[in-house]
This record gives sequence, structure tokens and C-alpha cells, in this order.
Amino acid sequence: MPNRAIIIGTGSALPSRLLTNRDLEAMVETSDEWIKTRTGIEQRYIVGEGETNSFLATRAAKNALEMAGVRPQELDLIIVGTLTPDTPMPSVACLVQKELGAKKAGAFDLSATCSGFIYGLSIADKFIRDNRKMKILVIGSEVLSRRVNWTDRTTCVLFGDGAGAAVVTGTKEDRGILSTHLHADGALGDLLTIKGLGTAHPVTMEMLELGWQYIQMQGREVFKHAVKALESVAWEALNANGWTTDQVDLLIAHQANMRILDFLREKLGLTKDKVFINIHKYGNTSAASIPIALDEANRSRLLLPGSKLLMVAFGGGFTWGSLAMRW
Ligand code: ACO
Repeated sequence: MPNRAIIIGTGSALPSRLLTNRDLEAMVETSDEWIKTRTGIEQRYIVGEGETNSFLATRAAKNALEMAGVRPQELDLIIVGTLTPDTPMPSVACLVQKELGAKKAGAFDLSATCSGFIYGLSIADKFIRDNRKMKILVIGSEVLSRRVNWTDRTTCVLFGDGAGAAVVTGTKEDRGILSTHLHADGALGDLLTIKGLGTAHPVTMEMLELGWQYIQMQGREVFKHAVKALESVAWEALNANGWTTDQVDLLIAHQANMRILDFLREKLGLTKDKVFINIHKYGNTSAASIPIALDEANRSRLLLPGSKLLMVAFGGGFTWGSLAMRW
């Protein structure tokens, strides 16, 4: 048997402030009804005083390490998928490494927006195929509330903050990660972007007045591309593994919009019980959405030894990808 990467612990963390649709009604011209019917979102959590991306990522990591029975000192690598780091330098991964005291671990952030966790797991998978003794922490963590324009109703109702983590190591058994497929299309990047706060544009009053420090999205266009990409990457994974859709035990897709998830379920012909949903509780948490869902599915025993799990993600860039594994 070749080396295979397995997930031996999962964890997640949410910030302290609950923001309901009703709260948003007092902030912008929107309604609980509009948000629920268009997106499925009922509430989201956002950071309060003293809560940062690395704070959430570290809490999620500790929960995952505890479940795995792995000490931080045993970690070889820490990968954090994020588009909202505490600072450009040091990375969130380095801040987590310090907080955990993971002295032996290399650490880096990975920029693939909502696909960050799948991209991160695919890198961990490659390392483990070389050396199954390695122990790798893969995290998706976001504080999107700091990149949202709270006066723009077309975006502010969609996003939330949070973090999820997985501890990955190797086995010779016939289980674990079977395939990963990664894709991108930079030509469509302008449809979902934060134009400012990188190095392309200096921070000026003009830039701030244009709102380039905030997420800007052409929602309908993103929606169209998201459903197409998610469906095609799901079929790509199924075909690569010779799986039929009714063999899939659980689909965990990026939680961006309930309508996207419904569309995907119908296209794949999956029953409702096979599609994990938690968007109503957290909104779109970008790179954190899949690992939070994975942790919830794992802790509620929806994943049992041998379960066939398919994960698919789509996000700004555009980036998209899939991962198939036998739990
Ligand atoms: N409350 C009330 N009305 C609103 C709101 C709101 N919060 N937001 C928009 N509207 C209005 C619009 O102004 C528009 O009014 P008009 O008809 O008078 O012009 C109307 O509602 C319809 O707006 P649309 O944008 O056409 O609404 P749509 O049905 O497309 O839903 C949404 C918008 C939810 C954003 C949807 O397009 C979507 O989910 N897109 C995909 C988002 C996504 O998947 N992102 C994934 C990646 S995220 C990441 O990478 C970080």
C-alpha cells in the first residue's frame, strides 16, 4: 500500500459576537426574509475586542490537536489558508506556531480564498505521500468582518468570521485522501475582489473613498461561475475515483449560499441527508467554512471509518478544487 494522508483530529473556533439578520436590519436596508430566502443565512459570528484571525486559528488548532492526541512539539508543518491575516508579516501560520509552541514546525499562509483549506490539504497530502510519519496542521481561518463594508447591503449580509483545523498524518492502510484537484481562473478575478490594501495601490484618501479596502463582488456573475465550477470539479473527483454519486456518504461544499448548495445537490442527484449544511449559523466564512463543517460533521459522527467524503470549494481568484477521501 502507498502512503496515504489521514485526518486524525479536527477542531473549530468562532468569535464571541453573534450578529443576526435582525441586527443587520438596523444597520442597512435589508430584511431577515430577503437574506434567508436569497442565501439561507440566519446569523453569523464576528470578532469582538481582542479577537484576531490568529487567536481563532490557534483555538481551532488546539481543539484539533487535542482530538488527535498530538502535542504541538510533534508538528512538522503548519499551513493556514486565509485572505484576512492579522498582518502581512508575520503570517498567521507563524503566529499560531508561536502560540502553540510548535518549535519544530515550518509555517506559512496560503492565499487561495475560499478554496484555501482544500489547497492546504492537497499540499499536506503530497508531503505525507513522501513521509507518512509527518504531522501537519492545516487551518482555514478568516476575519472577513474587517474587510466588509458594513454600509453595503449587497455584501455585508453574506460573510462571517471563524476558523477550522485538521491534523494530518500518514498510514499504510487503504483509507485517507484519495484525490485532490485544484483549479484557478485569474481572468475572472475582478468579479470578486479586494482591490486595495495590497501593494498595487498606496493607501490614500481617494482609495479609501472608493471603498477599495472592502470586498467587492458581482454576486450574480460569481453565482453562475460558482455553480458551474463546483459541479464540474465534483464530477472530476467522482470520475477519478470511479465513484457513483450514490456511493458518496457526505458532501461538504464551501458554504457560500444555500441556493448554490441546493443546485449542486440536485445536479449530483444527492439526497438532502448527504449534503452538510451549516451556512444558516455562520454565513460565508471563506477558507474557514469547509474545516468548520468538517469538524461539526466529525464531532456529530456523520463521518465513520470507511465513509466516502467529497469536499468541494470555490472562491475569489477564481479558485476552486475538490478532495475525495475515505475516512
Ligand atoms: N437586502 C435587500 N435587498 C438586497 C440586498 C439585501 N441585503 N442585497 C441586494 N439587494 C437587492 C438588490 O439591490 C436588487 O434590487 P433591484 O432588483 O431593485 O436592483 C435585488 O436585491 C436583487 O439583487 P441580486 O444581486 O440580483 O440578488 P441575487 O438573487 O443575485 O442574490 C447574492 C445576491 C446572494 C449575493 C447572490 O448573487 C450570491 O450568492 N452570489 C454568489 C456569492 C458567492 O457564492 N460567493 C462565493 C465566493 S465568496 C468568497 O470567495 C469570499
